[in-house]
Amino acid sequence: MEDLERADQIVVASINELTARRGFGPMASSHPPNFQAFSLRDDAEGLWLAEDDGEIIGFAWSWVCGELWFLAQLFVSPDRQGDGIGNQLLRKAFAHAQMRGASIKALITFAFNNVSQGLYISHGLFPRHPIYMVSVPRDRLALRLAEPRLRLEPLTAKTARFDELARIDVSALSVPREKHHRYLLGDSATGGFTIHAGSACVGYVYISDGHIGPLAVRRPDAMGCAFATALSFAARTNSQTISAFLPGASESVLKAATDHGMRITFPMLLMSSRQFGNWDSYLPRNPGFM
Ligand SMILES: CC(C)(COP(=O)(O)OP(=O)(O)OC[C@H]1O[C@@H](n2cnc3c(N)ncnc32)[C@H](O)[C@@H]1OP(=O)(O)O)[C@@H](O)C(=O)NCCC(=O)NCCS
Repeated sequence: MEDLERADQIVVASINELTARRGFGPMASSHPPNFQAFSLRDDAEGLWLAEDDGEIIGFAWSWVCGELWFLAQLFVSPDRQGDGIGNQLLRKAFAHAQMRGASIKALITFAFNNVSQGLYISHGLFPRHPIYMVSVPRDRLALRLAEPRLRLEPLTAKTARFDELARIDVSALSVPREKHHRYLLGDSATGGFTIHAGSACVGYVYISDGHIGPLAVRRPDAMGCAFATALSFAARTNSQTISAFLPGASESVLKAATDHGMRITFPMLLMSSRQFGNWDSYLPRNPGFM
């Protein structure tokens, strides 16, 4: 647990060195490593440090839900990259997938990082589609909002129907993620909601500090309306900026984002060992949570 904060500093430094070098400016800032700590308690085999003489120089973190192994982070200190450390950490992380019997391997990386993409391709993970991080100032969004067509109802750990959430996840992602719903519902900074059309529950969404995601719907034709409904909710909070991660596979959500004045801030990329999930039915939370 004590290592996680130092590991997060490496991750932030490594992301910002890359995004600044590629002309996007700094992207990351330090946060309490809550999801890392949750994953460490849940399945410690998924977290690995590279150390040299007691100093942390690299970090790999993966989690598993059912068949799915997901690489949440793989980072090497900027001054130690290109020396085989990423390759070694990735081997450790793959051993975690094998140990847990996960048949799908996936991750989200930077669309502008040739090194990470080349590294993953050489290990059998291939590009599937872009994922765009988008954002809009709340004031600008407010001018474009129509009356929401769907309704949000608050989710709590006590009242949540985890079997229903699991069915939505299986149809959107191929795997249930009950432990991750419990993690989000235990996070006081995040609001969880089910999405309703009349009396039918058509999906769920989590919103924290103006950021929308994960959001999942039972059927892709509900995605555009579900996202617009989440935008309406987020626009009524105090957050100055409203943001989300949108799969390039969902035309309706990309159109809804553009219609609401959202701009692409960072292009990312989904890579996986094979096709999985319906990416017109799911918006990731971030590249680590998926
Ligand atoms: C991506 C990262 C973790 C790799 O770690 P690393 O220690 O630098 O990687 P290694 O030296 O072990 O391996 C580099 C591999 O990248 C690949 N690579 C490098 N340049 C490449 C290029 N131009 N085209 C294709 N592949 C390339 C090769 O597979 C190479 O391995 P090889 O030399 O054995 O062929 C590290 O560079 C990093 O932290 N980058 C910034 C943050 C980041 O993008 N992290 C990934 C987030 S998902």
